[in-house]
Amino acid sequence: MNHYSIAIDGPAASGKSTAAKIISKRLNFLYVDTGAMYRAVTLLMLEKGLDTKDREAAKSILDECDIKEDREGRVYLNGKDVTSRVRMPDVSSQVSYACAHKEVREKLVELQREMAKSENVIMDGRDIGTVVLQDATLKIYQIASSYARAVRRQKENVEKGISNASVEEIQKDIEKRDYIDSHRENSPLKKADDAIELDTSDLTIEEEVEAIITLFRKKVGEEVWNNMVQSL
Ligand code: CDP
Repeated sequence: MNHYSIAIDGPAASGKSTAAKIISKRLNFLYVDTGAMYRAVTLLMLEKGLDTKDREAAKSILDECDIKEDREGRVYLNGKDVTSRVRMPDVSSQVSYACAHKEVREKLVELQREMAKSENVIMDGRDIGTVVLQDATLKIYQIASSYARAVRRQKENVEKGISNASVEEIQKDIEKRDYIDSHRENSPLKKADDAIELDTSDLTIEEEVEAIITLFRKKVGEEVWNNMVQSL
C-alpha cells in the first residue's frame, strides 16, 4: 500500500506544530513532532550539566538517551513524560546548539524515518523536506514575520503556563535560533526545491490548516482523496 506524507519545515514558532496536529487528526495521519525530540536530547544534556555546544559531550549521552513519542505528540525521555518541560526557556535557548551535532541528528533522523515507515504521516521540523522525508507527497515551507511568531508563542506560553517571557524576549530568542538553524553545517534550515512556501503571518490556524489540506488534496488527486476521506 502507498503511504502519504506531509513535510512541514520552517523557522521557530511559525505555527507548524499546531497546524500539523490538527491536520493529523482530520486525516488520521501519524503526527511526528521532531523539534520535541531535539528538545529532549537538549534537556538530558542540561540535566547532566553538560555544555550543549560540546560535540563529544553530546555524543557521550546518546546511548543513554531513549526518546519516544506517542500518537498524541507527547515526548518521553528515558520513560519520563517531558512534553511540557522541553518547552521551557532553558531548553529553547540551548536546543539549536545541541541539535547541530552530526551524531545527534543521525540518531534522531533514523528514529523519525522509522516512525514514518508504515503509515501516513505528517512531520514538522527544519529538515523534513530536505533530509528526513525527501520523497514526501507534499512539502510545505512555512514562514511568518518574527514579530507575528513571537506574539503567537507568547500567547501559547502564557496559556500553557510555560513562561512569562515578553514578546520582545521571545522575538530575540527565535531570531537567534533561526540564525543558528539556518547557518549550521549539518542539515541547515532551508526550503527544499520542491517545497511550497506558505506565509502564515496573516492566517488564522484554521486558514492555515485549510490551505495545507487543499494543497495536499490537489497533490494526490480526487480519486485518492475521495478514497482517503471515505475511510475516515
Ligand atoms: O516550536 P519551535 O519552532 O519553537 O521549535 P521546535 O520545532 O520544537 O524545534 C526546536 C529546535 O530544534 C529548533 O530551533 C531547531 O534548532 C531544532 N530542530 C532541528 O534542528 N531539526 C528539526 N527537524 C526540528 C527541530
